[in-house]
Amino acid sequence: MTDLHQVHKLTETKILINQASEYKQVIAEYRNKLASVISHGSDSAVEKHRSRGKLLARERINLLVDQQTPFLELSSFAAYNQYENVFPSAGIITGIGIVQGRECLIIANDATVKGGTYIRETIKKHVRAQEIARQNKLVCIYLVDSGGIYLPEQANVFPDRFDFGRVFYNQARMSAEGIPQISVVMGSCTAGGAYIPAMSDETIIVRNQGTIFIGGPPLVKAATGEDVTPEELGGAEVHTRISGVADHLAEDDVHALQICRSIVAGLPITEKQKPDIQPVKEPLFPAEELYGFLPTDLKKPINAHAIIERLADGSEFQEFKANYGKTLVTGFARIWGFPVGIIANNSFLTSESSLKGAHFIQLCVQRKIPLLFLQNITGFIVGKKYEHQGIARDGAKLINAVANAAVPKFTIVIGGSFGAGNYAMAGRAFDPHFLFMWPHARISVMGGEQAAGVLKSIGNNGSADSLLDRFKEESSAYYSSSRLWDDGIIDPADTRKVLAMAISVSLNRPFSEPGYGVFRM
Ligand code: COA
Repeated sequence: MTDLHQVHKLTETKILINQASEYKQVIAEYRNKLASVISHGSDSAVEKHRSRGKLLARERINLLVDQQTPFLELSSFAAYNQYENVFPSAGIITGIGIVQGRECLIIANDATVKGGTYIRETIKKHVRAQEIARQNKLVCIYLVDSGGIYLPEQANVFPDRFDFGRVFYNQARMSAEGIPQISVVMGSCTAGGAYIPAMSDETIIVRNQGTIFIGGPPLVKAATGEDVTPEELGGAEVHTRISGVADHLAEDDVHALQICRSIVAGLPITEKQKPDIQPVKEPLFPAEELYGFLPTDLKKPINAHAIIERLADGSEFQEFKANYGKTLVTGFARIWGFPVGIIANNSFLTSESSLKGAHFIQLCVQRKIPLLFLQNITGFIVGKKYEHQGIARDGAKLINAVANAAVPKFTIVIGGSFGAGNYAMAGRAFDPHFLFMWPHARISVMGGEQAAGVLKSIGNNGSADSLLDRFKEESSAYYSSSRLWDDGIIDPADTRKVLAMAISVSLNRPFSEPGYGVFRM
């Protein structure tokens, strides 16, 4: 080894150590924030809830799923830093759990958060969870305990295409596709919410707790003058003996969850796809080493190979076109035994890297190998030379290939996600099966400094000055996750586990037939 090489190695090690220690702070902050959003509503609301003999939403989920199996919780940061933080996790818990050995999508209202009522993010989260159930053909279980729409927000949650009505539209469409849906009514189910159990295949209701009605007692009194208690109007006895809206009467939460488990056990077994799955091999390097490769300053590059070595089974990566279009790294690997095609940014996208990416996607589609996108992208390369070479045309090929790739897609934002590079790397608009962010990641149309520069160059100095701070706030992973632009923020060290579950889940639906549109040559 030459002296120069040794100096270089030492400097590299020092950088890794410094970055790792900085990143541990990012992780500590992430864990603190996570603890604050998964803590349910106020203490008094929790006490009231328990005094009624009810379990908390996460306790219900724990009893529903098979013991010692993982639960992949989605979008825990929904509504974070909005509404003065009175809607932790947007008052709803969604995720994928194993029930009777089967992957199920679970949606549970948290009644300790404003009576489990729905704000914009609650609906987005509910609808997104249904989308996941539909895209992956998962049994859908609703643990219902909700006062319906949060009335002060009605204009933001009721009328539009993806607002509250979408929940019931989705239920009907999922039912038509043969996706089983089960409701467990463990509290209120008011107004539109009444259709959640009413549109499920089978519904369980808890005695003296569950109620289902289109209009609650106060509304009935106002409309007709009739005095009626919630139990008389739409309690468990009423719905299992008189109306037939519910099918099973449970004595309490625990009993209701047992009934739900036995219903799932009786559902017909559906064949999952069987790719060539190999025994799991841990990577050669500990997952925590990822921290050292993640500069918090996103202007610094992230070494895509180093990241892949810490995610892939046995750190094995069969690179494709290693010497061509090097700003994009493509190749085959395995995650938890499942085959994946990895596409990772190693700087901006060029014509060559776009062509390479499109070619690689075609290979994965032909071979029915799921695609994993590791996004750290400042965008497509700009400048006269590149425009003349037709970067827009080559970028379009990659975007076309990504949009039409007939295999499951998974996206992890491992750094920056800026500009049209977001599209080419399977951003949210490109329907990846799952999209997760690492805590330091950022997403926006361009970097704040670039945006301020653009505004200054067109003479808008006033806005340019205030833009930097706004971009900083609005591009953070927490801002994104709060608004459901992703499926959650994950610790980089957990990425393999999360991906393993996501890939396994995606195998429940057969891959669609490959089909592309026009590739502009
Ligand atoms: N809109 C706005 N806020 C609501 C609400 C709604 N639909 N339903 C409940 N809340 C709020 C309450 O004001 C209370 O807020 P606070 O914690 O700031 O005091 C909190 O949610 C809990 O409600 P509370 O009535 O104290 O709890 P509960 O467990 O005894 O009852 C409900 C919960 C949901 C059964 C009851 O609040 C209710 O019937 N709400 C109205 C439901 C309705 O008519 N919805 C129609 C909308 S489509």
